[in-house]
Parts: sequence; structure tokens; C-alpha cells
Amino acid sequence: MCGIVGAAARRDVVPVLIEGLRRLEYRGYDSAGLAVIDEHSRLVSARAVGKVAALADRLDAEPFAGQVGAAHTRWATHGGVSEANAHPQRSGDNVAVVHNGIIENYESLREVLEGKGYGFHSQTDTEVIAHLIDSHLQTGLGLREAVRTSLGELDGAYAIVAVTPDEPTRLVAARRGSPLVLGVGNGEHFVASDAAALLPVTRHFVFLEEGDLVDLTADSAEVIDLQGTTVTRPVVESSLSADAADKGGYRHYMLKEIFEQPKALGDTLSERFAHGRPLEAVLGPDAAELLPQVRGVHIVACGTSYHAGLVARYYLEQGGGVPCTVEVASEYRYRDPVVPPGTLFLAISQSGETADTLAALRFARGSGYVATAAICNVPESSLVRESDLVLMTRAGPEIGVASTKAFTTQLAALGLFGMLVARHNRLDARMEKLYARQLLHVPAQVEKTLQLESAMIKWAEWFADKHHALFLGRGPSFPVALEGALKLKEISYIHAEAYPAGELKHGPLALVDADMPVVAVAPNNRLIEKLKSNLQEVRARGGQLFVLADPDTGIRSEPGIEVVTMPEHIEALQAPLVYTVPLQLLAYHVAVARGTDVDQPRNLAKSVTVE
Ligand code: AGP
Repeated sequence: MCGIVGAAARRDVVPVLIEGLRRLEYRGYDSAGLAVIDEHSRLVSARAVGKVAALADRLDAEPFAGQVGAAHTRWATHGGVSEANAHPQRSGDNVAVVHNGIIENYESLREVLEGKGYGFHSQTDTEVIAHLIDSHLQTGLGLREAVRTSLGELDGAYAIVAVTPDEPTRLVAARRGSPLVLGVGNGEHFVASDAAALLPVTRHFVFLEEGDLVDLTADSAEVIDLQGTTVTRPVVESSLSADAADKGGYRHYMLKEIFEQPKALGDTLSERFAHGRPLEAVLGPDAAELLPQVRGVHIVACGTSYHAGLVARYYLEQGGGVPCTVEVASEYRYRDPVVPPGTLFLAISQSGETADTLAALRFARGSGYVATAAICNVPESSLVRESDLVLMTRAGPEIGVASTKAFTTQLAALGLFGMLVARHNRLDARMEKLYARQLLHVPAQVEKTLQLESAMIKWAEWFADKHHALFLGRGPSFPVALEGALKLKEISYIHAEAYPAGELKHGPLALVDADMPVVAVAPNNRLIEKLKSNLQEVRARGGQLFVLADPDTGIRSEPGIEVVTMPEHIEALQAPLVYTVPLQLLAYHVAVARGTDVDQPRNLAKSVTVE
């Protein structure tokens, strides 16, 4: 959840570390800090509460420099948001550590270290690591061995970087359960939670594996695996450019990413069809052998990706006759799922590093599935590397914490995936070609739907001073309503809930009054008449309705009902993708009207790499 970056070079690395932190800020942004070994081989550090800019201001006021260092942007887990709890955590003047993850046995380690005379100045689990490394340095071990020995005593998930003035040109980093990438520069080496942090300094990366430790200087980088053996990992050249993460003239990343959806969807779908049908090879070389065995699918994911999974259930079951269950990863990983023969496990994740989703995948590997599959946006992620079948969404980097283009491209990928699985079950070639045509038309529909922005700005005025909102949908529009509610609460802090519209009368209707705007997603499908009745139930209680409707539904604006009509008739397969777009715009403009931090909403982080 936090972002870490480290550097060993023959130049001052402070600017590199600060820029790296800026690029990692999506991972956490409640406080930041940085430590380097200065020209006198002294450990110097600075920390600040708030965003990376606050740390940069502090360094402008009290500058220091060094050629080896580590930095951190935090999303608090252990200990509140304060300078004392920010990283680096130090063991006196001898060790500085930055850490992403959670150390589960930190309390018992802390007692042992206190017994040895170490004083603690924070509430973090990370401070334990710094003192533990120091305790091993004091026995005469070098930094590499001191870190290795310490890691053997830690339970939990982590990526860490450690420095000591005893070895002023060296930096030791390691990962277990949290991502870490090694950047190979020209006579300099770097590590970071994400390759994007290092794009201004290198495009050559080694994606470290679980349990890897890396011993870095400006000239050398030695990777040591879990068994303690020096290993060679492939160096990969990234195709990302350093400016891939710019706002491109938009006020916020989120708005840019909403407007990038036609292109992102086009990229997700391009070159993936032949003769009007999806190509099996898009899931990888083993797809031809594995897919014919699939009789059911278990989908596991978190947050927005979970909502994508809920839509996919309709694609698989209604369109293809393939039984499908969908579950949030944090629950799935702690129960004992019954796996019917012929079941495929599918994890959906934008980042491919979500701790719960990764743990679910690892659990699934030994649980009797035909195979594991991933739908993901980050090719180098752990999820992609550890799954048998992989379908990339090609959304491009998504920086806004609220997921937008990652969601709609997941839906497009799931449309493809659904056809590939269903063709071995109930889906015939004629229907498959029809669905393929419908899916390929979605980028154009989304382009037109973006023109509803001005209508959503008007709706946003109604919502800006409200405290609660309801979202309704039926069938595949229910997950769309869930996603609309999640967007609104994430970035505007308005309490928003979604219900299947038929469920309203079983309780939530009690909440409806003039102060509770109710948003309804109303495509023209077989449930439209039932949805209309549910909307009447809301009107009869004085609720103010905001309806996104298909032009063919006949739902028109009248007192108490604001209707925005979609630009054209949208088919069932297309509807979840297209109706999501105005809901994203609504949430965005409500947040702007309320003056919240759209791209980095409070308490959240983009990539949730802790449990
Ligand atoms: C969505 O807007 C979120 N910020 C969040 O729910 C996210 O979708 C979730 O944490 C899962 O992330 P992933 O797709 O990277 O696994």
C-alpha cells in the first residue's frame, strides 16, 4: 500500500527519490520521508506529514544530498498519521528502513528488542525491522547478511529497503508479498514498488520474485533468492514512456482516464478477433488445451474489479450456460470453497498486486481447479506471472485512485473471456459473432456517451449538498449501480449504496425521502417494466429520481424524475460498459463541486498490497 524507492548512484539521488515518490503517491499519501548517506558517510533523513510536496518543501528549506538512499510514501497501517510514524524508520544513526507491508509478529519482536535496550519512537511495525537489522549488524554481520537474517525472523508481507552508513555505497532491498522492481541504469541502480517510479531514470527492469533479496551499489546488483542462491533474473525493457502518467491538460487524472475510455477499450479489443470471433490465443498458449475442459468459473476480486466479476456472471450464465460464482477475495481466501470438477479460477485485478486477490490465487492453485486465469492491467504484476491463463486489459496506466478505464476495459476483456469459455458450452457460432460485433461497437458508444458530461454536471448540482444517495439497477445493471455508488462515495464522501431495484421494498425504501437522490440505471432489457414499477415505488414516497434510460424505454422527465437518455439503443452485453460512463462523470463532478481531492481521496490508496 505504501510506495518505496531506493537508489545507488554516483550523483545526488535526492531528486530521483522525490520524483520516484511523486510517481508512487497513488499507493499512499498520508506522509512521506527520505534518507540518504551523505558525503561524510552520515545517515541523514527528513519526514513530513502530508503529500510528497510537503516533503519536497522541507528539503528545499533544509537541503541535503547523498548518492545512496531510500524513500517512502505512506498509507498508514500500524500507527496513526504523524511524523514519528512516517518512514524511514531509523535505528539511531546506524540503520534506516523503508517498508511496504505488515509485519505480523512485530509485537513479540519489539519486546525482545526492548529487552536488548532498543528504545522505540513510533507505533509502527517498521521500526522493529530497523532495530532488528541493527542488532545483527552489531554482531559483526555486513548489511546484506544482517538484512537476510532479520527477514528470517519476520512474519508477514513486505518489501523493504535498508541503508547503513557502515556501508555507505550499498543498499539492500527485499520482497515477500509486496511488489518490488529493480531498475538497471547506466552505472546506477534503483529499486521501487512500481516501474513507473523509475521511468525518468531507466527503462530496464528486473521484476523481482517472491523472497528475492537484492544487494545494490551503483556498479552492481546481485539478486539472491529464497534459498540464498545468487540468481540471474531477466532484464526487461519497458514500453512505458516517462510521460505516460501526465494529466494531458485535464484538471484531474480521473477525468483524463474517463475520457481515455474509447481508446483504452479499442486497445483492449484490437487484434483479438479473427473471422468475427475472439481468438483463443489471447489467453495464452495453454488456452487451446485448457478451455475445452471448463464447465464452470469461480471469479474472485476486490472493489471495482469485483463489480466487473458480477457483470461477468451474466455474460457466462445468461449468454453461455456456464455456471459462475463471484466472491470478494478477502472472504474467499478464508473459507474452504467446494470446487466442482471442470471449474476455472479467475482473478480480476487492475494492479495485479492486491494482497487479498493474490492470496486467493495462491490458495486456488492447490484447490483442484482446471487452471487459474487472470484479467489484469499490469503485465509485470505478480498476478500475471503466477496465473496459467492471462488476458491483459491494455487500459494503460491508471493513476486516479477511483478506477474508471480499468473497470470498463475489464468488462470488455470479460466479454471476450465469456465467449471463449461459453463456446465450449452453450454458445453457438452465430450468437458468438453477434456478441463480438456488439462488443466491438462499444468504443464508439462510449465516445458518444461522454457527451453526456454537461447533463451530469447539472445532476451534480443536485447531489453536491446531499449526505446520502441510492443507486438502483436490475440484472447486470445492479453491478453497474454498485460501481456508480462506489465511485460517488470514494471521491465525494457522500454515503451511497446500491440495491437491486426489486429489493428496495424489503427495507431500503424506508430511507427514501426528498433528501435522498435515487439514481436508476434503465437499459431497455427484459426487466425494464419491473424496474419502472420499482421507480414508481420511489416516486410514491417523494424520492427524487435520476434515471439513465435507453431511448426506447419511454421513460421521460417529469416533476420528481430527471431522465437522461443514452445516445442510442444499447444491447444487453454493451449496457454495463456504456451506462458506467455517465455514473463516473456524475461522481467526478459531484466531487469537484464539493472540492474534495478527486485523484487521491482521503484514507485510500490505489494499490492495496496489505491484507
Ligand atoms: C476502485 O475505484 C478502487 N479504488 C478499489 O475498489 C479497487 O478496485 C480495488 O482495491 C481492487 O484493486 P485491483 O483491481 O488493483 O485489484
